[in-house]
Amino acid sequence: MAKILFNEATKEFHLQNERISYIFCILENGQLGHLYFGKRLTHRDSFQHFIQMRTQSHTAYVYEDDFLFTLDTIRQEYPSYGTTDFREPAYQIKQENGSRITEFVYKNHEIYKGKKKLKGLPATYTEAEDDAVTVEILLEDELLSVQMVLSYTIYEDYDAICRNVRFVNNGEQNLDLLRAMSMSVDLYDSDFEMIHLDGAWARERHKKKRKLVTGIQSISSARGASSPDHNPFIALKRPYATEEQGDAYGFCLIYSGNFLAQVEVDRYETARVSMGINPFEFTWHLEPKGEFQTPEAVMVYSADGLNGMSQNFHQLFNKRLVRGSWREKERPVLLNNWEATYFKFNEEMILKIAEKAKNLGVELFVLDDGWFGKRDDSGSSLGDWYSDLDKLPEGVEGLSKKIEAMGLKFGLWFEPEMVNKVSCLYEEHPDWAIHTPGRRMSHGRNQYVLDFSNPQVVDHIYQMMEKVLKNSSISYVKWDMNRNITEAYGASLGADQQGEFFHRYILGVYSLYEHLIAEFPEILFESCASGGARFDAGMLYYAPQCWASDDTDAVERIKIQYGTSMVYPVASMGAHVSAIPNHQVKRMTDVDFRAHVAYFGAFGYELDPNAMTEEEQEKVKKQIEFFKKYRKLIQFGTFYRLEDPFEGDGNAAWMCVSPDKKQAVAVYYKVKATPNPKLKKLPLTGLDPDKRYYCSRNDRTYYGDELMNMGLLLDMEFTGSSARKDSVTKKNSGTDAGDFTSQMYVFECVDN
Ligand code: DGJ
Repeated sequence: MAKILFNEATKEFHLQNERISYIFCILENGQLGHLYFGKRLTHRDSFQHFIQMRTQSHTAYVYEDDFLFTLDTIRQEYPSYGTTDFREPAYQIKQENGSRITEFVYKNHEIYKGKKKLKGLPATYTEAEDDAVTVEILLEDELLSVQMVLSYTIYEDYDAICRNVRFVNNGEQNLDLLRAMSMSVDLYDSDFEMIHLDGAWARERHKKKRKLVTGIQSISSARGASSPDHNPFIALKRPYATEEQGDAYGFCLIYSGNFLAQVEVDRYETARVSMGINPFEFTWHLEPKGEFQTPEAVMVYSADGLNGMSQNFHQLFNKRLVRGSWREKERPVLLNNWEATYFKFNEEMILKIAEKAKNLGVELFVLDDGWFGKRDDSGSSLGDWYSDLDKLPEGVEGLSKKIEAMGLKFGLWFEPEMVNKVSCLYEEHPDWAIHTPGRRMSHGRNQYVLDFSNPQVVDHIYQMMEKVLKNSSISYVKWDMNRNITEAYGASLGADQQGEFFHRYILGVYSLYEHLIAEFPEILFESCASGGARFDAGMLYYAPQCWASDDTDAVERIKIQYGTSMVYPVASMGAHVSAIPNHQVKRMTDVDFRAHVAYFGAFGYELDPNAMTEEEQEKVKKQIEFFKKYRKLIQFGTFYRLEDPFEGDGNAAWMCVSPDKKQAVAVYYKVKATPNPKLKKLPLTGLDPDKRYYCSRNDRTYYGDELMNMGLLLDMEFTGSSARKDSVTKKNSGTDAGDFTSQMYVFECVDN
């Protein structure tokens, strides 16, 4: 059972489920001190001995005649700067006299079952009362009459603590919040490696690893979106921890805008982990009676290494972040026309592609960019969300109905946050494009960002989208966002609110999503931002899947999907088979290799199937049949990373196991062939050791324990001896030949 125990005598809070404990207390100065986060501890009368105070030179103490109590060394929960703590704080409030010193003191707390919604923000949720328990702790700065509510939720089934903070100005002063992180925790030591997911366009979420060192190490975004450069996630793992075992902590922000995630290692090598809205370019004006709500941060602990950490995120996000009718629902196999036609299409071409796609087994056809206004290239029409009748004589309305009549679902692309100067929308409302008065406007892809901090703009876009969605048969929407925000300024905001712009922009994006979801609850949304530039947990609350990257090359995708899987579920990663030579890197790979990579996601195709050979089309048919058979296992089974493409020679492996352990699928990707290669086996995991599994690929039955302990012996690689004449050496010269090959194994349990 998940519970939160409060010890009146020691003023300790113990958040506990069957596997983890999170413990903190009210310190003697009324602030919150951190005691423990990790594997479950037996509850006891007191954990006060976890606080180790010591006298030290060159610091400052809170109480006169006392040389022990200094916030410089006491581990804390939501620290402030300047009252003996010299590290970066969790928050800062600027007052009318210019001071930023505060002293928040515990007032009361409430423990309750379940979890409250966060107004206007994405967050994990509960369904049954027993899903989770929450404690809200109210602290107050008496001088300012400002209250701070720290909220902590522990789930029963997921090893996660979810945190958020609310500030309420009950005083008379006009205040400015300069920093308001969603969480902060001081871990006892810093003997960790930090893992984060970095990249750029077309190579998003590559796994990076670095040892923590004294000082601040951080990742952040100031681009107006979570960005491809860094993802709002970090993991801290012990150096000895692997994918399979050892302490691993994960921290993820449920937010899609500018963020900061940092670890400050201090003079005693304590690690302060904090995460929240990026304080750079952020202030929030808190007038009397004003409130501010931070986004939610999720903290996960696993004793079962990085796979254990990721599985916790996957489960929590699949079951208690994704909402509505698409939650845990198998995702349709789609075909998207972007790489098939780019902007150059007409109805006839689209129908031809859709028809072939339908014959091959595709379930959803998605019409990408180029269907609206007069959009023949990136220079015009964003903002004009009505059909281009030159391309589609009967509009999206007619096309969608024809496609539905074929037995396919129909999906449509939008880029709601953008406008081109060449558009009716810009002509009517030039002031709606984000700009700073008197300054020039920078463009990205010839386009400008609409001021979503202004609810009037958001509402106008809603009206346009609603019309299209109502009049046509639309089951899916791809919501794109293709540039960074520059010259940020909110024309509808006062001078003292300009620091609120970026956060208000994202709140505007969320409100449009919310409005559309409320009106069209059956539509499946896929978020996108020049590929995966806004792939974050905030988006997953609205859009259950996200286009992982514009890079559709299978070799590149192995890395992207591997990194993404650190936090985000398989079902959330849009992954397509595209044509060769690949459009991003010009690489040639076999269509089965491409499918073996794309299977591990929200699977689809992004090519013209009519341009494929008969043989390839047959292969595609078989791929789709295979995928439909194992889709549930792959998208919602337990995902294990087995071999890391970021280490060694770039080869990789992963597997999925059904919750009842009756089925599993494992795949090994060989990126580069080696001459005279060594033998290769793959130790599997997550199976039932005592049950037998049948594998049709090699017509063999294995015990679970041999697959996990001895490992799966892979097909032998080509040894270079096939030119020999004698049939014995020829036969034994290996079958897995060449670069870019994959071996996929399905295991079906044959015992009850
Ligand atoms: C960027 C997306 O990532 C692509 O998939 C495609 O939708 C284009 N935009 C269309 O402009």
